[in-house]
Amino acid sequence: MTLQRGRFIALEGGEGVGKSTNLRFVTDWLEARGIPYVQTREPGGTPLAEELRELLLRKREEAVDPTAELLMIFAARAQHLARVIEPALARGEWVICDRFTDATYAYQGGGRELDRALIAQLEQTVQGDLRPDRVLLLDLDPDAGLQRAASTGAADRFESEQLAFFQRVRAAYLQRAGSAPERYAVIDAGRPLEEVQRRLGSELEKQISRARDPE
Ligand SMILES: Nc1ncnc2c1ncn2[C@@H]1O[C@H](COP(=O)(O)OP(=O)(O)OP(=O)(O)O)[C@@H](O)[C@H]1O
Ligand SMILES: [Mg+2]
Repeated sequence: MTLQRGRFIALEGGEGVGKSTNLRFVTDWLEARGIPYVQTREPGGTPLAEELRELLLRKREEAVDPTAELLMIFAARAQHLARVIEPALARGEWVICDRFTDATYAYQGGGRELDRALIAQLEQTVQGDLRPDRVLLLDLDPDAGLQRAASTGAADRFESEQLAFFQRVRAAYLQRAGSAPERYAVIDAGRPLEEVQRRLGSELEKQISRARDPE
C-alpha cells in the first residue's frame, strides 16, 4: 500500500492542554479549504479500539500492570492503524489524530517510567516505518492543565495520578520534541486560545506546502 506522505498529523500534550478544542479548529480549517480528512483519536478510533480505551481509562480496584497497559495501548493502535489510519492515508486523505505514539512515550515511558526501548520495539512492530508526519505539541504546566481538565468531567484512571506523574509526562513530551525538532511544533498552550489557533493555522499552512512539495 502506498501511503501519501505529509498528511498524518497528531495533536499531543498532557491533560487539559486543549487537544480536543484545537482538533475542532484543525478540522474546521481543513474543511474550509476543501481538504479531505479523517478525524480520530487514541486510544480508540474503531469500535474495538474504543472498547480498549474504555478498559484503559476506567478506574478499578485492581492495580494495572504498566506492561499490560502498554500492550493494550498498542493492541488498540494496531487495530486503529489497520482499519482507519492506513486506509485513509492510502486514499490520499489527511489524518488528524488526538494523541498517538508520542503519548505512549510520554505517559507510559515518562509517567510510568517504562523502558523506552520496549516502547520503541513495539512501535516498530506495530507501525513499521509509519510515524505522524507532524506532531503539534500543546505544552502547558500540568497544574494549569489539570485545572482545565477538571472542568470537563470526572477524573479517569490517568487523570487521577499525582502531579509528579504529569510533570514526567510533560518532560518526556518536550524531550521527544527537542530530539527531532523538524517533526514537532511546540505550541505554548498557556496563551489565549486565539493565539494558539493562529499558531496552529500557520503550522498547517507550512504542512500543506510540505505535503505538496516533499523534499
Ligand atoms: N488556550 C486556552 N486558554 C484557556 N482555556 C483553554 C485553552 N484551550 C483550551 N481551553 C479550555 O480548557 C478545557 C480543556 O480543553 P480540552 O478538553 O480541549 O483539552 P484536552 O487536551 O482535550 O483535555 P483531555 O486531556 O482531558 O482530553 C476546555 O474547557 C477548553 O475550553
Ligand atoms: Mg480531549
